[in-house]
Amino acid sequence: MRLLFLGDLVGRSGREAVIDQLPALVEDHALDFVIVNGENAAGGFGITEEILQNVLDAGADVVTTGNHVWDQRDTLVYIERQDRLLRPINFPPGAPGRGANIFTARNGARVLVANAMGRVFMDSLDDPFTAIDTLLETTPLGRVVDAIVIDMHAEATSEKQAMAHFADGRATLVVGTHTHVPTADHQILPGGTAYMSDAGMCGDYDSVLGMEKDEPISRFLRKIPSGRFSPANGEASISGVAVEIDDATGLAREIAPLRIGGRLSPAFPPAWRR
Ligand code: FE2
Repeated sequence: MRLLFLGDLVGRSGREAVIDQLPALVEDHALDFVIVNGENAAGGFGITEEILQNVLDAGADVVTTGNHVWDQRDTLVYIERQDRLLRPINFPPGAPGRGANIFTARNGARVLVANAMGRVFMDSLDDPFTAIDTLLETTPLGRVVDAIVIDMHAEATSEKQAMAHFADGRATLVVGTHTHVPTADHQILPGGTAYMSDAGMCGDYDSVLGMEKDEPISRFLRKIPSGRFSPANGEASISGVAVEIDDATGLAREIAPLRIGGRLSPAFPPAWRR
């Protein structure tokens, strides 16, 4: 089974690149399941229902989020009817929507996707480790589901690595999001779980984390906001990670970065070449 995870869509440039190119990627490379982090898709802040629908229509099976999930106020309402949109699982009880769900892939496999958020240098939610542990114990890989993907939306690499080792052997892929820069540490951990500290963003890399540079630079210089952050709208790089899954165990056979277009050096999963 072949899975693709794309990092945070940022603004119009990022979402249009993905909406334009994802259908051909799914078709040409026989992708069984696609997950996209969409929490910065609407002008950098949250995701509207219309954008969500466009991303799903382009071929995403699930859209994950993070700390910006509620930036578009409507999300509090529409997330209840959109079961393919996930918010972090470790919000306090009673939060709208869901932090994990089981989906059917194109090959018929049952895929559990979970979205968790770190607590280091971020708003402190409930403990993501306990939440993920409970999920993995109640929905075991290879018995209840055929694959498990955890989007660990976090600032600190240490917390992402800790989550990956905590889930090693119990999940197919643990991938970090939120920091918007792809890391070069993609690997299969000793227990068989694929891991990459950050999937990067789908957006314009001539920017500060996808945003026009002037305002972030000015805030660093003066410590006074002088305007709003707005997404940089130059050509986007699509950035993510691809995983080949062993259908017998649900563990990873291969992990490789994907980078297409824009300013980043291209990378293409070897298993996808024909
Ligand atoms: Fe984030």
